[in-house]
Amino acid sequence: MSLNDPILPGPGATDYERYLRTDELLALQKTAANWRHRDELLFQTIHQASELWLKLACEEIDTATSRIGADDVAGATRLLRRAVDAIEIVNLNTRQLTHIAPWDYHAVRASLGHGSGFDSPGFRKTHDLSPKLGAAFTALLARRGVTLVTLYRNSAEHDDVFQLAERLLDWDERLILWRGLHLKAVERIIGGHVIGTQGTPVEVLGKRIDVRYFPELWDVRNTLTGMANG
Ligand code: HEM
Repeated sequence: MSLNDPILPGPGATDYERYLRTDELLALQKTAANWRHRDELLFQTIHQASELWLKLACEEIDTATSRIGADDVAGATRLLRRAVDAIEIVNLNTRQLTHIAPWDYHAVRASLGHGSGFDSPGFRKTHDLSPKLGAAFTALLARRGVTLVTLYRNSAEHDDVFQLAERLLDWDERLILWRGLHLKAVERIIGGHVIGTQGTPVEVLGKRIDVRYFPELWDVRNTLTGMANG
């Protein structure tokens, strides 16, 4: 038997295709015969790839939350770093939307029905998991008997928890940046004063950009600056 011969079970000509299920994966996009506009492939690729990276990010956030609960701070920090980098990729994906010309998008949009990002399973999961991550972090601080101000004034002394806190802030920040990128892409493509496929005015997206899951982590900076000035 040659090393090129497949040994894994399942459909696909090679073990690469069998393990990664590329036949099914690459059949998940509309074919040219069904496109209203050829940019549907770019549109579907951006969304499907984003959902995959969000799935990975949320899995890591979920496990990181459990690890914080088990006082495995280093293990949680490692997973959070990965989750944050996954959102960076979603952000890059989102920029790809600007390759779709505004008028061409209306042909794509005609295929979407009432489909809206509000129903993105990946983003919904970030809404669900982020508050739990914050609660686990707050409980960790209580177990360590340290306040946020003490942590941030003595970051070297509490380095493991400090690194974790900064990764939580990264997570919050990358999601805020995504909302900003998404809004600008939306304004470039359909405009800032129109209604979305689920009836939401684009202006509403602007008001939601700065949702913060960990406001205390942002606010402690104000406290430190006040202390430094005082
Ligand atoms: C041409 C591309 C896009 C347009 C014109 C667009 C437009 C919109 C609009 C108008 C809304 C408001 C809700 C509605 O009525 O539909 C919305 C919400 C949303 N979209 Fe998009 N979108 C685009 C691409 C994307 C992509 C690539 C993603 C993610 C992979 C995404 C994720 C979301 C999410 C998560 C929301 C809810 C935002 C929130 O909760 O604040 N959208 N989008």
